[in-house]
Amino acid sequence: MKEQLSKIRDEAKNELKKALDSRILEELRVKYLGKKGVVKEVLGKLGEMSEDTRKEIGRFANEIKDEIGKLFEEASLSIEKSLKEAKLRSGVADISIPQSVPPMGFSHPLTLVTEKMVNIFKSMGYAVEDGPELEEEYYNFDALNIPPYHPARDDHDSFYMGKGKLLRTHTSPVQIRTMKNKKPPLAIIVPGRCYRRDASDATHSPTFYQMEGLVVDKGLSFADLKGTLLLWAKMMFGEKTNIRLRPDFFPFTEPSAELAVTCPVCHGPGCGVCKHTGWVELMGCGMVNPVVLENCGIDSEVYSGFAFGMGIERVAMVVYGIKDIRFFYENDLRLLEQFVK
Ligand code: PHE
Repeated sequence: MKEQLSKIRDEAKNELKKALDSRILEELRVKYLGKKGVVKEVLGKLGEMSEDTRKEIGRFANEIKDEIGKLFEEASLSIEKSLKEAKLRSGVADISIPQSVPPMGFSHPLTLVTEKMVNIFKSMGYAVEDGPELEEEYYNFDALNIPPYHPARDDHDSFYMGKGKLLRTHTSPVQIRTMKNKKPPLAIIVPGRCYRRDASDATHSPTFYQMEGLVVDKGLSFADLKGTLLLWAKMMFGEKTNIRLRPDFFPFTEPSAELAVTCPVCHGPGCGVCKHTGWVELMGCGMVNPVVLENCGIDSEVYSGFAFGMGIERVAMVVYGIKDIRFFYENDLRLLEQFVK
C-alpha cells in the first residue's frame, strides 16, 4: 500500500507539471485530494488492516497527503505568477507592483521667504495687495512726492516704456493705488517684482523682489512702526533679535529711517554676513509723508501712517547664507533643491 501511495504522489507531481491553468489545477485537486479522490480511496482500505499496520500506513498516508497538498500550493503560485507575467506582457498594468516615487518639486527660496513674511504680517492682521509691474510714472514717482527732476529719480534708474509708463522701480506705487481705492484704517503688505537699470553683480540685479508695508489709521506714531518691525524681526529671525533704526531719507516718508537687525547668523560678534558689524541693514521705513496722504485724498490732520519696504532677496540671502543675488535666478537645481520649508 505504501508503494501505491508513493506512486499516487509521483503521478500527481507529473500531472501538476503539466497543469497550466487554474481550471486544470482544480480538476486535479478533486482527483487527488477530493472526497472521492484517489488518496481517500486508498485510505478507505485502512479499515481492513490490522491495528499496527493501520497506524503505520495511516501516518505514511497523511505524510503523502501533506506532500501532495504542498505540490498543489506550489503549482497554484506558479500559475498565478505566469498569469501576472502574461498580463504585463500583454500591456495590462499590474497596480499591485510598488512604483518608484517620481521626484517631487520644491519651492524656490524666494518663495519660501516671501511666504514666511506674508504669514507673519497676516498674523498681525495685514491684507496682501497687488499692483501692476508696468506702472505709470504718476504712481511710481509723482504721487509719492518724487516730482520730475527730483534727484531721488536718479536713484531709481528706470526702464521707461514711453507714454509716462515704466517698469515699477519699487512696490511703493501700490501704497498710492491702495490709499486711493480704499478708506483707512488700512494695513497692507505688497510682495512683488521690481525693475531697475542696475548692472548685474553680487548684490544687484535688474529685476528683484520687494515687500512693501503700509498702515494708515488715526493716531499712529513712530512707536507703532518701531513696535511692528521689532515684532516682525523677532518672528522672522528669532526671539533674541533686536532692531536698530537710523535716520534716512525718502521723499514719501517723513521722518524716514533705515532698519537693521542684529545679525541672524552670528548674533553679535561679527561675521561675513554682517561684514563684522553685528548688524544687517534690511529696509527703509518711516511715517507716511502728509503730502502723500493728501495726494490720495486722505486728511492728514486726522490720519497718519507708517510704511516700510525691503528687498526680499536681501532677506533670503541673510536667512540662507547665499552670497550672490544671481544664484536666485540661475535656477541651478543643485542650489535650489537644498531649501525646504
Ligand atoms: N521704496 C523704497 C525703496 O525702494 C523703500 C521704502 C518703502 C522706504 C517704504 C520707506 C517706506 O528704496
